[in-house]
Amino acid sequence: MAKRHSNGEVRARLTAAAKRAMKNAHAPYSKFKVGAALLTTTDKIFLGCNVENASYGMTNCAERTAIFTAVAELGPKMEIRAIAVANNQNAPCSPCGACRQVMMELGGPDLIIIQANLRGAVAQFTMAALLPGAFALDPNTPRP
Ligand code: THU
Repeated sequence: MAKRHSNGEVRARLTAAAKRAMKNAHAPYSKFKVGAALLTTTDKIFLGCNVENASYGMTNCAERTAIFTAVAELGPKMEIRAIAVANNQNAPCSPCGACRQVMMELGGPDLIIIQANLRGAVAQFTMAALLPGAFALDPNTPRP
């Protein structure tokens, strides 16, 4: 995690940012509001929330909103170091399969995923633990 901050400080900062982002969710159909905050390897934070649509399948998860925003701002070499996820239902914020694949591509196996509830961070995982055998085009890509 960021050199200037302890892991605990980074976790607290990202968790608070994820809860803030959650308030912007557009979730009129599920009422399940999600916020995500990611930290890049260059120590920048980007926020995302879920954005639903009347055509339900068009919904974008909070995690991918944050990641796509970071890529749009910093370009494709951007790397994610950690991402915190919070929701308004106190459910475990375990990223969906689609988001895991996107996270692996831009964060790699050491990326830290922090699950938060409305009180704070509750659990932490590595990307390698959440997505063993991730899809890759190159057969030589190492997979955890
Ligand atoms: N959702 C996320 O934003 N992130 C996840 O990892 C899982 C689900 C959103 C999608 C939808 O708007 C709502 O939560 C209920 O599935």
